[in-house]
Order: sequence, then structure tokens, then C-alpha cells
Amino acid sequence: MFPHFGGILFHRHILISKSTIDKVFETARVEEVIGDFVQLKKAGSNFKGLSPFSDERTPSFMVSPVKQIWKDFSSGKGGTVVSFLMEHEHFTYPEAIKYLAKKYNIEVEETQLSSEEKEKADERESLYLVTDFANEYFQKTLHETDHGQAIGLSYFKERGFSPETIKKFQLGYSLNEWQAFTDEAIDKGYNLEFLEKTGLTIVKEDRRFDRFKGRVIFPIHSMSGRVLGFGGRILTQDKKAAKYLNSPESDIYHKSKVLYGIYYAKQSIAKEDNCYLVEGYTDVIQFYQTGIKNVVASSGTALTADQIRLVNRLTKNITVLFDSDAAGTRASLRGIDLILEQGMNVKVCAFPEGEDPDSFARKNTFEELSLFLEEQAVDFIQFKASLLFEETRNDPIKKAETIRDIVNSIAKIPDQIKKEIYIRECSKIMDISEAVLFSTLAQIENKDLKKADEQFRKERRSFQIVKETETTKKVDVQYELERNIIEILLLYGNKTEQFEDLVLKDNEEGELILEPVTHEAKVFEKIYLDLQEDEMEFSNDNFRSLYYTIIDTLNQDPEFRLSDFVNKVSPEVAGEVTSILMNDERYNLHDWESRSIFPKGKDLSIAQLVNETILSLRCFLIDQKVNDFKQETLESETNKGVLEDVLNYSNLKMLLSRKLNRVL
Ligand code: CTP
Ligand code: MN
Repeated sequence: MFPHFGGILFHRHILISKSTIDKVFETARVEEVIGDFVQLKKAGSNFKGLSPFSDERTPSFMVSPVKQIWKDFSSGKGGTVVSFLMEHEHFTYPEAIKYLAKKYNIEVEETQLSSEEKEKADERESLYLVTDFANEYFQKTLHETDHGQAIGLSYFKERGFSPETIKKFQLGYSLNEWQAFTDEAIDKGYNLEFLEKTGLTIVKEDRRFDRFKGRVIFPIHSMSGRVLGFGGRILTQDKKAAKYLNSPESDIYHKSKVLYGIYYAKQSIAKEDNCYLVEGYTDVIQFYQTGIKNVVASSGTALTADQIRLVNRLTKNITVLFDSDAAGTRASLRGIDLILEQGMNVKVCAFPEGEDPDSFARKNTFEELSLFLEEQAVDFIQFKASLLFEETRNDPIKKAETIRDIVNSIAKIPDQIKKEIYIRECSKIMDISEAVLFSTLAQIENKDLKKADEQFRKERRSFQIVKETETTKKVDVQYELERNIIEILLLYGNKTEQFEDLVLKDNEEGELILEPVTHEAKVFEKIYLDLQEDEMEFSNDNFRSLYYTIIDTLNQDPEFRLSDFVNKVSPEVAGEVTSILMNDERYNLHDWESRSIFPKGKDLSIAQLVNETILSLRCFLIDQKVNDFKQETLESETNKGVLEDVLNYSNLKMLLSRKLNRVL
């Protein structure tokens, strides 16, 4: 994801040098950096505090100075000092590095790419260069040309946008000429190919046209503030031309993955723990100017799961705002199931007849608008139920459809308790018995069950932090064992231990016996050799690659430090690594020992733990082999060879079980 080894790209063709990044990681202390945001108290060798990601009363947020990592047990988040800044401050990776460099007075060394690298520094960068230029150009045109001021600027002023707002949102104007922008861009050395790919220029045979000719411009920013594309609004009442034109899809602009205003809103969304969702550019801007900054727009398209995910990183709460016209209502109802599916809470708020968020915000002060939102926003299920109830009051068939529709939405909610609350609520509003609603829910869920089960399996195997809830009792043995091996490698990989192994020998009577032999080895060597002996491979792709990375690292570097390792792997892997490491600290956090609860495994010696885990995995794999063979023999009647194999494996299994009993 991030090019960790060569330095990081942060703007155009400038890199933060590798040595700066290394210096930052060497110098920054996770407890000091987090201490600026969270009140930390010493707890043994760690620090703990209240989670900054949830409202909790008892601290479950943990920082380990030794491992230089943090873990928030209430939200499941965790990672390095950099990932904390990315989560908490919503910095990009380069922003986090620069923040730390500033805090620790480290000079940020920037390097230029070589010309060869520059070419490779991909087309995307070239597209960004073009949109950056266009963004500057449109703003300059708005503020510094006669037409810009007379037409564009006065339009924005008429709409009630202040000069600060216009600057803040980088609004612009494109002259009402066929190719004024394109000529300027080419004159400045920008390639027509990229002008066309970003959609700024439309090429027809040997003629070129400015896409946004004669329109005011709303630049669309990514989460980290890069300009991805533009929306342009027409100023005339021309019925034939579209009111808004937008940039077409390109390598940098995917409209289903972008929310207008997210760059300006992200801090405030996290702080207010809520996000207002509106439809248009002007709604966002007018809200922001009135003082409600946690607002984004889907820009007229149907809401997508990717867009919701952008918000889900910042808050679990969305309030959908829409105009009172029926079309608006229907459209927003559809997007809402998608929000529920991601486990988020949805409220909706309708505006008075003839108003949209833009016009309403313009007419009201911050206090009035806040009060309105507070009073009018209702829970989504309630809203949907009462809305549809009104519509279907005298039509039993329609009413039945409606109930099914609402229960369908409720079925999307992952949380069981919430589901139940909504069913009761809905029963009251719709005047229908809870029992009927629950059985409808069961029907719908049964249908979804098969799909969900597949999803569940997939997720278990992908690299997610596994939360130990009632529902995940269905343990995937192989997954757990593989994870345990990674855990042991991370925690004790470099330790030298005395391993007692049982080896097969002939005794004087010529019988096969197991004899204990003690030998000294590093934990990682022992694991590697044992697993190799069985030609055993990890079944989980992520664990497999992590396994080889760890073994390689330990092999090359006897002074291996965990904190270094966490900083070297990709952010996704770092999350899992942190979660494994911090599970260890969790015992400490909850003070389980004083309540005399000893988690299994913690009272074993390291050598015993290693043996137990490897043998368990080998037993498991042999069981699987035996089962496979049994299946084969069933299918192919008598197959002597296979039967022999089964016998051999069964014997080996017995042997291993005996070993396992000894170490246990
Ligand atoms: N939109 C679009 N293309 C259109 C019409 C609308 O992309 N032809 C998108 C724009 O992002 C717009 C949003 O849908 O901001 C909402 O559309 P609408 O309600 O028609 O516009 P308003 O935001 O109310 O625009 P204005 O107040 O400027 O008329
Ligand atoms: Mn409007």
C-alpha cells in the first residue's frame, strides 16, 4: 500500500526520504504522542486510558512503551504511532510522518524522483497534476478576470456565499469560450492526453472543447484534500443543457467512491460523532458556512456502500437530510438500507415544503438550524414506518407490502438487540402484533442465511481481528492454530529454549519406543523445522506470508525487535500483528490474575507452549488427511493402497497424541 522502503510520495514527484521516515520511527515515542490526545496512567509496564474512539467509563485503551504499539479494546483498533495519528486525526500517512517530524524537530528530507522513476510515477500523478492546474486556473479566472468577477463571483455572492467560503471551497469559474482553458493548459506544457483523460477537455477530431465552458466550478476533493474532479453549474436558464456537469470517471475520479465535502468535514464528523448527508454541492457549502461542518453530499447519485464506508471510518451515526418532495424521500429511503447493513445508526430529517438544506440554512442562524435538526431528526425505522403507515392506512394489501419492506430493513441491522427494539417499535407504529413481525423477520433471515454463512466463512479467513463474542464460538480450529503459531513467533521467536522432544527408537527387545531427548534451539528454528518436516503450509494466505516474513526477518537479524517489525509491514498486516501482540497485554489490563483466572497457555513454559501448538496443528492436519482418505475409500469401494495410507496416518496420529499428552 505505502511504499515503506523507498520513502513516501506526498506531493507530485516529491518524496519524504527513507532516512527521515526511519528517524521518525526511531525517535517518536508512542506514549508521548498519544499522551497529547489521551490522558494516560501508568499500569505496570504499560499505560492505560479511556478510549478516544468510544464513550467509555472504564479504561480499555492500552499503550505499550516496550512494544511501541497501542490497542483500543473497545473498538478493536490498534497499531503503531503512525496509525494512531491516522485514526485519531484522520491524517494520511505522509501527514502523520510530517506531524511527528515537527513534534520531534526532525528535518524532513525531501527527494526528487529520478527521470525514469518519474515516468513510472504513474499516469495517476499526471492526472493529479492536470486537475491541480485546472483548480488553480478556475479560481484565478473567478477572482482575477472581468468576466469571472462579473458573472461567476456575483453568482456566488447572490447565493449568499461569503468571500471566505468561496476561498475555502476553492470555487472557480470557467470562461464562456470554447477552449480558453485548454489553450492555457497546453501553453503551460500540460499534455492533451491527460486533459482528455480527466475530462477537462473534450476532443472531437481536430477540435477541442472546454467541458466546463461558462460554468461556475465546484472542485471535488479526496479525503486527504487532493482534487479528483469537478462539478460545474450552468448560469443560464437553458432548459436543454444539464444544470450540473461533472467530471467523467477516470483513474483518479470514481464518483461512487467520493463524497463531496468529506475533506472539509472529516474532523468535525469525528468530533460531533455524526455526519449529515445531503444531496448537493450548495447544500454542503451553505451548511458549512452556517456553522454545521459535519456535512457531505452524495452529489446527486444514489448512495453507494463505498461512500458509506468513508463515513463509517469517522462515525457510526448518519443523519440523512432531504427535501420534502416525494421523489427525494423515495430516493433516500433506498440508500438507507445500505447504511444499516454497515451497522450504522441512521436518522432522517425532512425539510419543510419547498425548502432544501441549502435554502433552509441560508434563512436560519446556526442556533436555529441546530435546533431544527435536533428536533426534526427521527430514527429511520420510525420515520419509514410512520410515513408508509400514512400512505397505506386504508389499503390492506399495500400495508402488508409495507410491513415486509420495513422488516426487510430491520433484517439488515447486524446488532440483535437493536433489531428487537425496532421490531417492538414498528409493532406499535404499524399496529400489528410483535409475533407476526418476528416471524416475518425469521422468514427473511432464513432466506439470507445461506448467503450470510458463506460470508462468515470468508471473513473468518480473511485477516480480521476476531472478536470473542457468543456468536463466534464456532471456532475454525485451523485458523486458531495458525494464528497461535504467528503469536508465538512474534512474542518469543528469538528466545532460546530447551526443547524436550520424543524420538522414535528401537529398544533392546526390538520394539518401537518414544524416548525423550533434550536439545537447545531458538523458538523460530524449532517451529520452522517441525513444520517443514510435515511439509505443512498455512491455509490462510495472510498468515502464510506473515509467517515467511517473520522467519526471514529472524533469520537475517538476530537483534530483531518487535517494534521495528510492526513498522515494516503494510498497515493491514500491522493491524493484525498489533492485535496479536496486545492480546498478551490484555490479561494485564483486566487484572485477571488477581481474580485468579489464568488464561490457558500462560502458565506453560515457552517450550511447552511451542510443542503443544505444533503438535495440535499436526494432529489436526492428520485428522483431515484421514478423513479425506476415508471419503476416497467410500467412493472407490476397495482400494488397498488408500486403506494402507489410512492405517499409517492413524498410527502417526496415535503417536502424536501420545506426544501431546506428555507435553500437556
Ligand atoms: N446534480 C448533477 N447533475 C444534474 C443535477 C444535479 O450532478 N444535472 C447533482 C449535483 O451534485 C447537485 C445535486 O445533484 O448539487 C443536487 O441537485 P439539485 O437538488 O437539482 O441541485 P441543487 O444542489 O439544489 O442546486 P442549485 O441549488 O444550484 O439549483
Ligand atoms: Mn438548491
